Amino acid sequence: MSQLFNRRSMMGMAGGALSAASVLSSSHAHAKLKNDFEPRGGDGIWERLPSLNLEAYDEMSTSTRKWVNGALARAAQQRANELMVKNGMKPDQQISFEDASKLLSNDPIIAMRASSWQRLQWHMWQELKREFYDNYDAYMSEMEATDKTGPGTLELNPGIEPEYTKHEIHMQPGGYTGDPFAGHLYLYGTANFYVGQNYQDQGHAALAAAVPVPADGKVRRILDAGCSCGQQVVALKRRFPDAEVWGVDIGAPMVRYAHMRAVDNGVDVNFRHALAEKTGFPDGYFDIVTSYILHHEVTEQATYEIIRETSRVLRPGGVYFPVDVYTMPSRRVLDGTPMRRIQDWITSRWNHERWWYDYQRSDFLGEMQRSGFALNMDGPEASAYAVNLSQARARQTSGRPQALGDMSGQGGQKNIMGTKI
Ligand SMILES: C[S@@+](CC[C@H](N)C(=O)[O-])C[C@H]1O[C@@H](n2cnc3c(N)ncnc32)[C@H](O)[C@@H]1O
Repeated sequence: MSQLFNRRSMMGMAGGALSAASVLSSSHAHAKLKNDFEPRGGDGIWERLPSLNLEAYDEMSTSTRKWVNGALARAAQQRANELMVKNGMKPDQQISFEDASKLLSNDPIIAMRASSWQRLQWHMWQELKREFYDNYDAYMSEMEATDKTGPGTLELNPGIEPEYTKHEIHMQPGGYTGDPFAGHLYLYGTANFYVGQNYQDQGHAALAAAVPVPADGKVRRILDAGCSCGQQVVALKRRFPDAEVWGVDIGAPMVRYAHMRAVDNGVDVNFRHALAEKTGFPDGYFDIVTSYILHHEVTEQATYEIIRETSRVLRPGGVYFPVDVYTMPSRRVLDGTPMRRIQDWITSRWNHERWWYDYQRSDFLGEMQRSGFALNMDGPEASAYAVNLSQARARQTSGRPQALGDMSGQGGQKNIMGTKI
């Protein structure tokens, strides 16, 4: 009976999350540091949301998002199929964006799906922002106190952000570079995006577990490019405890927060505020370079520069494992169905995914080859929606059905990887 009234179980957050949580927290001591501001304490690798109000809000918006991504998205897709058939076409027939827009975008269910998602996203940022700004001094002095504390290091390089990195992507206020609490906002905002399934970084742990190792088995140094709050960096360190692990990100507030979070968890990893296209590391320094959903957020030109820089910092035989929305060959469908086209446009225009189309257009694989990588299209399984991978793993072992709210309806799929020649 008590299970019924466990709020997290009711929100569908327990399940896989709990098993991963117990694995992570068994080796994790949540330190109480000087100036640590955590009004409601820690929960495994995470700090709990600082007020019951905010936690309640988060749970409500998470469950709404599950509905929007699940039942409402399916209803919208069904409406799109019906409208196509009604107009003498097959549901998945490819038509121009203009025709798709004329046909589908004014349908009330399709429009409601799109606008609910957007409104929810906007509201979620505002609620989180209020908390951090209302307690500005406490959160700021907490971060300042760990800037120069170990384990691990933090390097900040003020003023290096090119214009394209200042965009308010996903509607995040200030974007990745322009708000001192960008890391705080991103961590809790994406917890909502992951519909409550990443509260112990289990998606990142699954991705880190999938990362391929060079053929000679040597893993001394690893880089994660576009590391945000360092979840992948920490997960990689847990998998390769003897390796020197680095994260770079162009958002100074992102790496500050990532460093504080790693220090708080006693994990010895390093963060550098740098462009992935100009990391500052010596030639051949790394055995593995990873990136997770970085490339669709940079210009086409930057993507090419990042691939070249990655090649430069990898040693011969080193491995590049970039995971993004089209790095799973089975998902490289550039001309999607009419509904897909509308969705892409909404994502780009209204979720401020400014470089979405640049990424789709880019010759990612060609540039990898030109930059000295041997391509393997059949690399380890990954997912651009990290929790899908952990859910797929959990299903393989438990036989449980796919969770509602699983956005793409896909589990892990073969991802590309490159080996430096
Ligand atoms: C979608 S987030 C990546 C998520 C992250 N890898 C994770 O594990 O959750 C994109 C990140 O890339 C960073 N970024 C964008 N352009 C960059 C660039 N040119 N160089 C380095 N970081 C960049 C952003 O600041 C942001 O933190």
